[in-house]
Amino acid sequence: MDKLVIQGGARLEGEIWISGSKNAALPILFATLLTDQKVTLSNLPHLQDITTTIALLGALGVTISIDDNMQITVESGSLNAVTAPYDLVKTMRASILVLGPLLAKYGEANVSFPGGCAIGSRPVDLHLKGLEAMGAEIEVDQGYIKARTNGRLKGANILMDVVSVGATENLMMAAALAEGTTVIQNAAREPEIVDLARCMNALGAKVEDFGSNTLTIHGVEKMTGGEYSIMPDRIETGTFLAAAAATGGRIKTTKADPTSLEAVLLKLKETGAEITQGDDWIQLDMKGKRPKAINIKTAPYPGFPTDMQAQLSVVNAVAEGTGRITETIFENRHMQVQELNRMGANIAVEGNTAVVTGVDKLNGAPVMASDLRASAALVIAGMVASGETAVDRIYHIDRGYECIEEKLRQVGARIRRVPSK
Ligand code: UD1
Repeated sequence: MDKLVIQGGARLEGEIWISGSKNAALPILFATLLTDQKVTLSNLPHLQDITTTIALLGALGVTISIDDNMQITVESGSLNAVTAPYDLVKTMRASILVLGPLLAKYGEANVSFPGGCAIGSRPVDLHLKGLEAMGAEIEVDQGYIKARTNGRLKGANILMDVVSVGATENLMMAAALAEGTTVIQNAAREPEIVDLARCMNALGAKVEDFGSNTLTIHGVEKMTGGEYSIMPDRIETGTFLAAAAATGGRIKTTKADPTSLEAVLLKLKETGAEITQGDDWIQLDMKGKRPKAINIKTAPYPGFPTDMQAQLSVVNAVAEGTGRITETIFENRHMQVQELNRMGANIAVEGNTAVVTGVDKLNGAPVMASDLRASAALVIAGMVASGETAVDRIYHIDRGYECIEEKLRQVGARIRRVPSK
């Protein structure tokens, strides 16, 4: 298995361009199943999860072509299967997003129960309940979710018990081709939902009030072809800014979207960082100072994103003072803590809170990545630490960060990928 080997201690300085958003690209790729016509998507990130999604669409019989700039053209008219098999789904939880579009368009879908990051139990009950409310018949058989509908799905009023990004997306896509109007209350409001809704509307769907907690979707009989450019990745952006804060450096992220990560920028400012921004860039300058510890509580958007807490725990690990990081979305999401403590951090986990007491320095060590964002945290820790850190199991990081070592080298990090023997 490949490793990332990092010589720590370099202050990061320079510019990094931000890739297209993984979490917007995945549902948007699945949304192309809603139309028979050609859809061209640009600004797709070059990532393992995107490759998995393309393989999954390919297995269904979708025709796909990709050019050198990762512009991808998808045509679903040739679909010849409605089953998302276990060997593809097991590596990526977001594969569940194939369910809504397949069912809405073809009246039938079989999807293996999803895998993905091991951060808590992560059920899919809300996806299934919502589809049932729209008239789907669902059974679980031999590890597969088997969904059927007689004729079109029917518009419904759906109240979600928990705010779920994936369930909101799945139901929004299913409702796009349903008969009548669907209202989803307590919907997720994440920028990626907004991006998906914009893309769907560009393809002829009628989604209203996206970005609010009550979504209205007027079902249409058919959607069309079209073009769409994926939004910048706000979590990648936040990760690089956190790296600048932890190393006392200065990073300007370009091709970014400052409006999508206000909660993160507010918290980074609290660490003492100077933040400046324009329409499509954000710069964080720590001016060589040690960060101040901050308290964080994760929450659905517009709250602080759970996908950024691990990276901020590293900023706290080397900060002045003690900061508390409380995770409210997922259980078992402080998995980087044990590894950070092996590097000399002082972090105690109390229930769903990590109490991080800043230390003067971290020491390099061999560490193991356990999930996508935890592995980003370990890479940041490696850049702050003195000596060498080897981050193992980086297939996690390749699921979500495009060319991470190349981008970080651009700003002065001493990081290289060591292929497995
Ligand atoms: C998405 C993101 C992930 C992010 C998460 C929360 C993608 C591909 N992934 O994941 O990076 O960390 O949002 O912002 O976009 N839940 C249920 N029942 C369900 C579905 C979810 O109880 O049917 C619970 C989950 O266990 C969790 C909470 O709802 O506690 C939020 O999960 P959800 O928003 O669905 O996360 P994902 O869409 O899987």
